[in-house]
Amino acid sequence: MQSVLITGGAGFIGQNLVHAWRAARPDDRLVVVDAMTYAANVRSLEPLMKEGSIVFVRGDIKDAALIRRLFDKHQFTRVAHLAAESHVDRSIVDPEAFLQTNVLGTFTLLKAALDAWRASGTIDRARFLHVSTDEVYGSLGPSDTAFLESSPYRPNSPYAASKAASDHLVRSFVATYAMPALITNCSNNYGPYQHPEKLIPLMIIHALEGKPLPVYGDGSNVRDWLHVSDHCDALMSVIERGRVGETYNVGGGNERNNRDVVGLICDTLNSAFAADQNLASRFPSCPAALAKSCRSLIAFVTDRPGHDHRYAIDATKLATELGSRCSVGFEAGLRQTIHWYLDQEAWWRDVTSGAYQAWIDKNYGFRIAV
Ligand code: NAD
Ligand code: DAU
Repeated sequence: MQSVLITGGAGFIGQNLVHAWRAARPDDRLVVVDAMTYAANVRSLEPLMKEGSIVFVRGDIKDAALIRRLFDKHQFTRVAHLAAESHVDRSIVDPEAFLQTNVLGTFTLLKAALDAWRASGTIDRARFLHVSTDEVYGSLGPSDTAFLESSPYRPNSPYAASKAASDHLVRSFVATYAMPALITNCSNNYGPYQHPEKLIPLMIIHALEGKPLPVYGDGSNVRDWLHVSDHCDALMSVIERGRVGETYNVGGGNERNNRDVVGLICDTLNSAFAADQNLASRFPSCPAALAKSCRSLIAFVTDRPGHDHRYAIDATKLATELGSRCSVGFEAGLRQTIHWYLDQEAWWRDVTSGAYQAWIDKNYGFRIAV
């Protein structure tokens, strides 16, 4: 039995990881700490809190005293560190929070874990998993080979730079203090509970509401799509069986350009409406309600500054060392995700109100159709 701290457990990947961990390892004690920023949502965790199968703490990873108290009380033997500011566009508009949380927050957590594990003499059986991104490796050209764990760091956005800095801090703690840490660098996740500021949920929801689908630039940018359930499986394998001090890349093996992803979302929605007459009355503004193609909403808009052209992950190390491989194909995973958003209208209506709307105005207000 392990005592596990999951930071950022109310975020998109965090919520999925809490559920996956609870199901896979029912005897572990799970404590979630999350600052509850705009990106957080605890609805899916509430049943687990009520039945007492997780402990939820609203708190900031930069709060050293709080993190020390949590270590004293729960004697963690595992830390899965996911708390971060995670949206590239926000990091361009307002980078400071990214440095605060992603760099200083990671440092605070590392230091608290190291001090606690040294003091309790448990460092030999403890593990700290730092969840990072493929964006630290920069951008690939069309015929470049996929990122390896040994690829040089070339971050291009303030978000990517802050994650790169946090990776370097983790690495330095391993080398300098024998911190039992591991790093994963993964590609673009998609699936249930993703905040609608990110490409896939944003396009699904805009299409349902009959709003333009804003594709940055010419839509030729390529991402390697990883279903969040495959990512969570990989994280649990790495924290238990990965080699301390090592980095593991996690990828979906699903490279698609944004034009194709948005086109596939549109076509999948049209098929869903054709198969279920109720959808037309629930979402009357969607072109599919009038049997028109959702593709009619696609609008090419001003590009993201410093927009990385392509990410692709070589996950051979994860597969050969730990036997962890992706099992969700992109078309099937996308269909499941679209149906999740169709079924969870109350969830995303809640998320897309208020503060989220203010962000949409700020990020898209200046973008003009090109
Ligand atoms: P998210 O933005 O959905 O969730 C982040 C969570 O962290 C939120 O619940 C937020 O409230 C919390 N948080 C932010 N600042 C905090 C602070 N100072 N203290 C405590 N909690 C704080 O992000 P996500 O998509 O779930 O990503 C999780 C992690 O995975 C991040 O570290 C991100 O960099 C990494 N990652 C994400 C992806 C992806 O495609 N989503 C891909 C690669 C890596
Ligand atoms: O690669 C891993 C990274 O993936 C994670 O580290 C980040 O936390 C996560 O947000 C994601 O970053 P991206 O910038 O790739 O994801 P995003 O969903 O913001 O954008 C995906 C692609 O879609 C990207 O090429 C930009 C484009 N895009 C995005 C939005 C929001 C659009 O064309 N239009 C949009 O409105």
